[in-house]
Amino acid sequence: MIGTLEVSEIGIGCMGFSHGYGKIPAESYSIDAIRKAYEAGCTFFDTAEVYGDVLFYPGHNERLVGKAVKDFRKDIVLATKLHLHSEEISSKTSVYEALCRHLKRSMENLETDYVDLYYLHRVNLEIPLEDVAYAMGRLICEGAIRAWGLSQVNVDTLAKAHAITPVAAVQNIYSMLERDCEKEIFPYCLEHNIGVVPFSPIASGFLSGKINTETQFEAVDDVRNFVPQLKKENIKANQPVLDILAEYAGRKHVSCAQIALSWILHKYPNAVPIPGSKNKERILENLNATNVKLSDEEFQALEAALNSCTIFGHRGNVETEQSNFRMEWKNIKGDLERNNI
Ligand SMILES: NC(=O)c1ccc[n+]([C@@H]2O[C@H](COP(=O)([O-])OP(=O)(O)OC[C@H]3O[C@@H](n4cnc5c(N)ncnc54)[C@H](OP(=O)(O)O)[C@@H]3O)[C@@H](O)[C@H]2O)c1
Repeated sequence: MIGTLEVSEIGIGCMGFSHGYGKIPAESYSIDAIRKAYEAGCTFFDTAEVYGDVLFYPGHNERLVGKAVKDFRKDIVLATKLHLHSEEISSKTSVYEALCRHLKRSMENLETDYVDLYYLHRVNLEIPLEDVAYAMGRLICEGAIRAWGLSQVNVDTLAKAHAITPVAAVQNIYSMLERDCEKEIFPYCLEHNIGVVPFSPIASGFLSGKINTETQFEAVDDVRNFVPQLKKENIKANQPVLDILAEYAGRKHVSCAQIALSWILHKYPNAVPIPGSKNKERILENLNATNVKLSDEEFQALEAALNSCTIFGHRGNVETEQSNFRMEWKNIKGDLERNNI
């Protein structure tokens, strides 16, 4: 459960079909992959209005997802996200009106007349969060959305928003390599019946064990060129985590990615990870992680082993419209291009 929304134990992140991991598959392949995920029991699909803006146009991913799920739309939880920019709000346009515009566009793209879970993709420090929370509450009352959420926030921001309109889900980065959420976010969410939706739960592929220092990422629109843990020196330094994963995977005859996901599921009853993949087989492999059960003893030993590792490369789970990873990524990219690196 995510708040009051019933979802499969694992969802799928659909971003890679439009953005962030280099070249995308043919549309028919992506649509089939999403449908196969549903047939395999997945009822939680994650997208965002912005996915697709680098290679195509904003809304590219929402359109793809909308097409893929139209025959079973009512049976699933569809989550999308909006960015609210400061210049959108003026004496003539309220936060509620701006939100309505974004939502209308997303619903058109998704071929639906309601969104189950609507996230603010990043908090904008120039727009009062209280106004956003209030506007989301209005949209819930009107039946346009069923629930709302926040992404990349700390607990103080979450509590402020939750006090105005109960938040159903927090979508923060969380994996064996990015564990900041354990300190405050998970305890707060457990106490307040809020779901946590870990994004990048496979650490952008690292925890699958399929990436090494020789792996060449793609030249265009590939976030892996900028993910801190995927710098060559950090891939090397984080190898002990992979060794632990490989040991468990071997012992249980499953994949490393499945252990990485089952660890999250075992650890937190309110976590619903959304691994992303452009590959049909891997999508099914990831969904199948629900069948990989760790005994309490196995989990404790795994946890102790992970706790003994120092993690290299850190992104963290607090970002805003004014300061975020995407921006850093664009800056680094700019520097590389300017210096011909
Ligand atoms: N809220 C936010 O700000 C935010 C930010 C980023 C992402 N997200 C959401 O979270 C979702 C997941 O995050 P993510 O895609 O960044 O990270 P992820 O799920 O940790 O990793 C995706 C990468 O791992 C590879 N992979 C996935 N499963 C695999 C497996 N079983 N074996 C080998 N490789 C595997 C994928 O490659 P292949 O495609 O080749 O399989 C891809 O390169 C996204 O789709 C998006 O919906 C949200």
